Amino acid sequence: MKFKSILAGFAGVVIVAGAAAFAYAWHGSIDPINPPDPASFDPGLVAKGAELAAVGNCTACHTKPGNPSFSGGLALPTPFGTIYSTNITPDPETGIGRWSQAAFQRAMREGVRRDGAHLYPAFPFDHFTLVSDADDKALYAYLMTRRPVKQVAPDNTLPFPLDIRMAVAGWKLLFFDQGAYQNKDSETVAWNRGAYLANGLGHCGACHTPRNGLGAEKSDKHFAGGEQEGWTAFALDGSSPAPVAWNADSLYAYLRQGWHEDHGLANGPMAEVTGNLGRLPDQDVHAIATYISSLMPQAASGTLASGDDIRKRSQTAGLALASASAADTSTPRGRGETIYRAACSVCHDSGRPLPFGGVDLHLSSTIHAPDAQNAINTVLFGLPATSGRQSAIMPNFAPTMTDAQLSDLLAYLRQDVAQKPAWDDVASRAADTRSGKIKVSVRPSDGIERGPDNIGAQDK
Ligand code: HEC
Ligand code: HEC
Ligand code: HEC
Repeated sequence: MKFKSILAGFAGVVIVAGAAAFAYAWHGSIDPINPPDPASFDPGLVAKGAELAAVGNCTACHTKPGNPSFSGGLALPTPFGTIYSTNITPDPETGIGRWSQAAFQRAMREGVRRDGAHLYPAFPFDHFTLVSDADDKALYAYLMTRRPVKQVAPDNTLPFPLDIRMAVAGWKLLFFDQGAYQNKDSETVAWNRGAYLANGLGHCGACHTPRNGLGAEKSDKHFAGGEQEGWTAFALDGSSPAPVAWNADSLYAYLRQGWHEDHGLANGPMAEVTGNLGRLPDQDVHAIATYISSLMPQAASGTLASGDDIRKRSQTAGLALASASAADTSTPRGRGETIYRAACSVCHDSGRPLPFGGVDLHLSSTIHAPDAQNAINTVLFGLPATSGRQSAIMPNFAPTMTDAQLSDLLAYLRQDVAQKPAWDDVASRAADTRSGKIKVSVRPSDGIERGPDNIGAQDK
């Protein structure tokens, strides 16, 4: 890991920016209040806040699995060390029960705690700064009407000098643009709404934009593809790896229901995102789709094949494969083809419809992406069942497939299916993924049970 140089860089920033930052850095404490009576909040405002909290994925980061919602303590590994999310229930001692509306809004807008200390950007305040006063008010009403839970987050394990919160002031000076979203007059109402939600509360760029050595999103690479929790969050700009161009309609369907027939399923951390977006009003999901599709000029250019074209072509290829004699096992791709026929084609080449069938891999961004990690994760860990509901399931091949076999299999999928050069580091990456050196979070498909007919039917 580039850990040492990152650290040196950060220390440098602290020193260089130190003097200048000091004036900028200092924030006063905002007086504690007596915890407000939950009945004092307008129920309409609370309901609005619930929707907004879903867009902001607040529960995901502020809940340790098995613990009550919003009680914090989830470990967030960063290249610098582990940061723990805090308790944001209205408990007066261990949560934000004594935070006024002003203190909450300052945290969202400026990344500063009630007592005046800086918050680490693992809390995506660099996005939440865009949130409007009205939406912050609704979020506050929602959080302050949750059940208070007594729970203290473990201490962060950050090395010196990162353990000094003042160090964040230097980071903010360099990378943080504070201020609510400003409408772009040249764009439509829907586009502006989408940009507000995607770049603000939705913090899509926190995963989909690559970061620099100091953990800040690269401003010139907006949506060019990033990583999170051991997964690649594919590019959503002109460099999108999708073999069929995304457009506003397919994005809407994918974000709403967690899958699309021309693209497959939202996997890994994206499953949680689509699960949450399922709670938003249609109009807002349309708005996000409108904005994101404007970043991907492929659809308009019409240069990519359609889903039907690709399916037709791959059916022909599938028939040829089925009737062909055994593959040439002297090459990696030949050995990979044998494995594919034995272990994968029964689901991925059978024409079973999505969401429960496996997508035709000719359509899959996972196979067409520049990086092998999501394909490795999917084959090793599969897709676990969602408890108590019908969901898309794929077996995990970690116990039965060696790293060399996985490497051969992906060589076949890359060269013959995606028609791209094989990834060159599959076996060693697979080993690191198995050993936990590359930490991967595996989730069931959260969005999939919401087929087109029962959107919104899930637990509210
Ligand atoms: C990507 C993970 C992540 C998401 C998403 C997230 N938070 Fe946090 N949040 C954190 C972490 C980590 C901290 C603690 C940061 C620190 O200690 O400096 C934090 C701290 C906070 C704090 C300061 C609390 C305190 O006691 O210091 C508030 C308020 C807060 N978050 C509210 C929210 C709200 C509201 C949302 C949803 C709109 C949200 N967070 C979404 C990770 C997240
Ligand atoms: C917590 C990290 C995270 C956040 C936040 C996030 N994404 Fe994703 N996204 C991912 C990952 C990881 C994938 C790859 C999923 C897979 O392998 O199926 C992905 C995939 C996608 C895809 C499919 C791309 C393709 O070519 O297959 C779209 C579209 C998408 N995200 C849109 C969004 C939008 C819009 C937002 C904000 C509302 C968002 N994402 C927020 C992590 C994230
Ligand atoms: C029992 C059926 C089943 C088997 C066997 C199976 N899969 Fe899957 N697979 C699925 C389902 C269901 C999904 C989720 C829907 C989707 O996105 O395709 C999935 C998803 C995937 C994805 C993600 C596709 C995307 O971009 O959304 C990849 C890659 C994949 N499988 C590869 C494989 C490989 C390689 C094998 C053989 C080693 C295999 N699968 C075996 C059912 C299966």
